[in-house]
Parts: sequence; C-alpha cells; structure tokens
Amino acid sequence: MASSDKRIMSGMRPTGRLHLGHYFGALSNWVRFQSQYDSYFSIVDWHALTTKFQNTREVQGHIWEIALDWLCVGIDPDAATVYVQSAVPEIAELHLLMSMLTPHNWVEREPTLKDMVKMLDSDESAAKEKITYGLLGYPVLMTADILTFKGQLIPVGKDQESHLEFARDVCRRFNKLYDVDYFPEPKPEFTETPLLKGIDGQKMGKSFNNDIKIADTESDTEKKVKQMITDRTRLAKSDPGHTDLCEIPWPMYKVFAKDRPDYLAQVKNECETPLIGCVDCKKRLAGEVNDFFRPFREKRELLAADPDRVRKIIEHGNSKARKVAKQTLSEVRDIMGMVDWNKD
Ligand code: TRP
Repeated sequence: MASSDKRIMSGMRPTGRLHLGHYFGALSNWVRFQSQYDSYFSIVDWHALTTKFQNTREVQGHIWEIALDWLCVGIDPDAATVYVQSAVPEIAELHLLMSMLTPHNWVEREPTLKDMVKMLDSDESAAKEKITYGLLGYPVLMTADILTFKGQLIPVGKDQESHLEFARDVCRRFNKLYDVDYFPEPKPEFTETPLLKGIDGQKMGKSFNNDIKIADTESDTEKKVKQMITDRTRLAKSDPGHTDLCEIPWPMYKVFAKDRPDYLAQVKNECETPLIGCVDCKKRLAGEVNDFFRPFREKRELLAADPDRVRKIIEHGNSKARKVAKQTLSEVRDIMGMVDWNKD
C-alpha cells in the first residue's frame, strides 16, 4: 500500500513494445514509486492518435503490449491504478473545458510542436495535414490527464519539461480564473535516464530500429548485443581495449551492474589488460541482459497466455480511474458554474 497520499501520475503512448530505455528511464522508477505514492499510470492511446490517426487499430493492439510490458516488470495493479486513457471519457471532457481557457499562443509556442513542424516540413502541404487540431492540443490533453487525477508528482523524462510547464500554467490559470485553490500544481519528477544508446550508437528508440526490447528473446538479444560498436581504436583482440572509448557495451555494463563495483572493475581490467576480446565481452554482456530480464520475460509469457486475466486487470484499473475522474469532473462543472444535467 502507498505510504503517502501524494498522487503520482504518468503515462506512455501505445506505439509499440517497450525497450530497455523505457525500463531504466521510467518503469523501474514507477515500480519504486507505486509503493510510496497513490499512483495512476495511463496508457495514453488518444495521445498516440495525435500522430497515428491513420493507424487506429494498430494503436489499440499496442495497448495490450504496453500492459504486458508494464505488468511483467513489476507494475502492480493492486498498488497502482493502471488504465487506458480512452476508457475514461471524463479526461476528454476536461480537455475540452481546459481548451476553452488555454490561450492559443500557449500551444503554438510549445517547442515540441516546433520540432514536429520542422521534421515534417520537407513537404509543406503534407505537413499541414499531419499537424491536426488534436496534435496542437497534445499538451492540453496531457494537462487534462494530470488534472483529472489531481496528479502532484509527475515522473517524466526531461523531454517532457515544456509540457509540464504548460500543465502548471493551465492549472494556475484555472485556479485564478475561478478563484479557487482546486487543482494542485503538478510538479515534474525528472527520472534519471541513463544515456542508453541503441545498438548503433544513436539514442535508443523504437523508430531508429536500434533497440533491445523487454520482450525480445534471448537469442535476439544476443544478436543485437553482438552488433554493438565497441572501441573503434581497438583493431585486434591482442590490442588493449579502452572502456572510456567503448561506445555501447561498457556504458551498458554500467547500467546493468551499477550495484556491483567489483564486477565492473573486473570487466574493465579484463578489457584493458587485455584478457578478453570484444566478441567475448559482448557475449558476457548479452548474458547479463538476459539474466536481468529473464524473470520479466517469463512473467510476460505467462500473462500473454492468459488474456482474460490481463483484460480483468485493465478493466479494474479503468473503473477505479473512472470513479476518480467522475468525481473530479463533477467538482469542475460545479466550480465553472455548469449545470450537471446528468446528475443521478
Ligand atoms: N507525453 C508523454 C510522453 O510522450 C506521455 C503522457 C501523456 C504523459 N499524458 C501524460 C506523461 C501525463 C505524464 C503525465 O512521454
């Protein structure tokens, strides 16, 4: 059970299976938080639709994958509320109400939107069709996600900083406009993302096709680790290696063995003496990755084989979330002076 009544809220877009970056950057923290705070974790499928509105079915399929990834790494549905955004229509209502009081230049100045425009800019007319009204409202929807559950601490990566700033601005504006102290200001809890590079040395990302997934098989993991770039200056196995020049395996060792300094010292020594070549060293690293994820992967398979159980977990989370959301929206309507026509 949560030891504090403080609400924590976060979400992930269902755009595919999750990778090691998601685990070390977010999920491992969520697992820690769920026993300390009243936690709400949302699979934000509407947010996925802001860019994937042509692949709606695919998005819905990914909800399932994300749920399996979350549950297998230890997100505990008895400790945290795990739910699907689109199962809670009150969030959409709050999004709409918040959109009324959000100045349009606030959404237009969002740096992430500017990046997206730049990215899509090569074909200007196609870009215009992709930047939809819904995409423009991305941060408003995120604000609604948070405020519906009165989230106080929001564990997110640094890349979400401007969205959080936005949410705080809208929150303050609501409280000020209606002269209330209703919504608590959501504070970001920046999760420490170890810089996990993908197997090609770029930032690990699903769209770069360079990631190792939580759900990968052991042999896929081995194959991927084998491809990792090591120390470019080391040409032969007999040359001493340099951990400080090793591009991916060494930083990854440091993530996986961060609590085993003696082991890390041994790996470093074996590389630099050299007692071991990069090929063998990567084999050992793949073993580390597989050992670490084995229990999660086993649990994931069991869950995947029992779809009824997973569906019940999600439905239970949805209904818990919905109860809270209904309460919030009823209070918000009241504050805004709206007649509640559906009051039972
Ligand atoms: N925008 C977030 C991301 O891409 C996902 C998200 C949606 C979210 N709603 C949220 C995160 C509410 C925290 C709180 O990572």
